[in-house]
Amino acid sequence: MYAAFRSIGAYVPEKILTNADLTKMVDTTDEWITKRTGIKERRIAAKNETTSDMAVKAAEKAIARSGLKKSDIDMIIVATISPDYFNMPSTATVVAHKMGLDQVSAFDISAACTGFIYVLSIAKAFIESGMKKNVLIIGAEKMSAITDYTDRGTCILFGDGAGAAVISATENKDEAILDLHTAADGSLGDFLMTPDGGTGNPHKNELKSEASFIQMKGNETFKIAVRTLTKDVVKILADNNLVPSDIAHFVPHQANYRIIKAVGDALKMKDEQIVLTVHKYGNTSGASIPMAINDLYEEGGLKAGEMMLLDAFGGGLTWGSALIPFSPLTK
Ligand code: UT7
Repeated sequence: MYAAFRSIGAYVPEKILTNADLTKMVDTTDEWITKRTGIKERRIAAKNETTSDMAVKAAEKAIARSGLKKSDIDMIIVATISPDYFNMPSTATVVAHKMGLDQVSAFDISAACTGFIYVLSIAKAFIESGMKKNVLIIGAEKMSAITDYTDRGTCILFGDGAGAAVISATENKDEAILDLHTAADGSLGDFLMTPDGGTGNPHKNELKSEASFIQMKGNETFKIAVRTLTKDVVKILADNNLVPSDIAHFVPHQANYRIIKAVGDALKMKDEQIVLTVHKYGNTSGASIPMAINDLYEEGGLKAGEMMLLDAFGGGLTWGSALIPFSPLTK
């Protein structure tokens, strides 16, 4: 049995936070943000809008486009670092309940910006082992809830949103996810972290201190991201006897245009191969790759059989890449 990437869906909140808005909040400029990151605006969820609310909207679209019934889904995995509840219940179980799928297996994973590649690898493994048939995978983030809007080094980067995909069993090898690679280096965990609130550093007097928000060694993360991702994508292509021109769509995690461009240039990717959404959504962590694939799909740019190369890098540190043909049931 093989695992096929059947469909995609996404949801973006209505509210837009522009660079101009941020200049009223911290000492920054539109020019600095645009030049250093490529970001012009990002979406911010409503106050009462949760990560699971966004996840459900993305998931319903993905299921509707998969040609399957909701009841065909036998597992839900959510990649998030901004869950509805920090300990329990998992966002996946909240999503399952909101979708009326209370009997399915449901759990979250935490791999920050690499989350979507990690959930893909788990879905693939469950399907190839014969344990599950139709896995709903979701990347959903309310990054605004864990962002410090007094820290100009991070608050200009992040946005909210959700993306989802249906991964299904197939006997047709041509439809199969070709390869996937995930890795981590915990020794660099302090490059990107929310230091407070877990058992490592429990909340003391204040319910939420500023150390509950994201802290990042931006420049160090930037450099290691470019180096690691370049090596990773070169390797996954070579391992599969592919060259960059075999890739229809390079869909990188949307953290920073300069990272995307550096990796794209190292691969000699043409601009039209690179899927870019960072200018309008910012960095939505685990949601960024499925949101980008969804944009491509909705613009009519993603055709059955086309090969996608995904890559991501983020907190943990974690990273990964994947080679995935788009394999819809309904062509
Ligand atoms: O998605 C997970 C992985 N995350 C990433 O991959 C993010 C990686 N990092 C980045 O995207 C970039 O490092 C940033 C966009 C966060 C920062 O860009 P940079 O080119 O690495 O800048 P820097 O941190 O080296 O800072 C350069 C200067 C500093 O001033 P001095 O020390 O040179 O006077 C900063 O204080 O820019 C200053 N700066 C700002 N200035 C205006 C930092 N943030 C801002 C800001 N507006 N928002």
